[in-house]
Amino acid sequence: MQILDGHVVLVTGGGSGLGLGVARHCLSEGAELAILEYDPAKVIALKEEFGDQVLVCQGDVRSVEDLQACRTAITDRYGRLTALIGAQGIFDGMVPLADTPIDRIDALFDEVFSVNVKGYILTARIFHDLLASERGAIVLTCSTAAYAADGGGLFYTASKGAVRSVVSQLAFEFAPEIRVNAVAPSGIANSQLRGPAALGMENSKQSDIPKETFRAGFRTTALMDLPTPEDYGVLFAYLASRHNAIMTGQTVVADQGMLNRAVISSIGTGGTPAVS
Ligand SMILES: NC(=O)c1ccc[n+]([C@@H]2O[C@H](COP(=O)([O-])OP(=O)(O)OC[C@H]3O[C@@H](n4cnc5c(N)ncnc54)[C@H](O)[C@@H]3O)[C@@H](O)[C@H]2O)c1
Repeated sequence: MQILDGHVVLVTGGGSGLGLGVARHCLSEGAELAILEYDPAKVIALKEEFGDQVLVCQGDVRSVEDLQACRTAITDRYGRLTALIGAQGIFDGMVPLADTPIDRIDALFDEVFSVNVKGYILTARIFHDLLASERGAIVLTCSTAAYAADGGGLFYTASKGAVRSVVSQLAFEFAPEIRVNAVAPSGIANSQLRGPAALGMENSKQSDIPKETFRAGFRTTALMDLPTPEDYGVLFAYLASRHNAIMTGQTVVADQGMLNRAVISSIGTGGTPAVS
């Protein structure tokens, strides 16, 4: 038996990075799958990779119309939905507030919060009744930026803090029909997380950073490596599944032990580095 046998799962922002890795894992665990993705080029790549096996919807999580069209496509094809996995997000460019042009703050706040927070709220609202009738699950994507400074700039960090609160409130409001949790990664390999258009950084991506340079930042974690999107799949799949009968309202910190350290001492972690 596979963990997602009999489940219908929607992954929003499943066109690359974490969402794509989680979507692949859900499929391998027996789920019937739908993916909502904004970027038309990624939509084409998804259709090439999955063919008719997966329902791929092109759309924007900020658009009620797009979400309703995706909902209709899901009910037409599968008749139901048992889990919503929210994996979309954008970065804020990590510009310190004091260096952020005052006349860009409105646009930057609206851009980052509309994708990273409002997108999750709208999706939860639009799929609520389908999920409730299946006693389903919502799994959102938070970040260690919600717990400690320097995981992003102010706008990204604040948006991920808001995701923690969204999880807490929705788990309360949607209980007992829907379990609502989140996963907070520290870093993800092969991510294409983009910067904000409000600062003219929409074409800069995490994948522009040389892989080894990005990985080096994770040597100070206890597990001394940077996970791939697929590594997170098992945790998302569990939280999305009916096997999770014990958790709601929780954000699971999946950070390779990054936050379990008070200072960067010279002692190290005592292990053998997984990255060279
Ligand atoms: N990259 C990291 O190191 C890291 C660390 C912690 C948390 N996260 C979080 O993980 C999640 C996934 O990010 P990723 O790193 O895999 O980046 P990614 O850019 O590779 O994946 C995000 C996907 O969301 C899509 N998307 C963006 N805006 C959208 C919209 N309005 N509507 C629909 N889809 C949209 C993108 O096109 C992309 O395919 C995000 O929430 C991010 O904040 C990332």
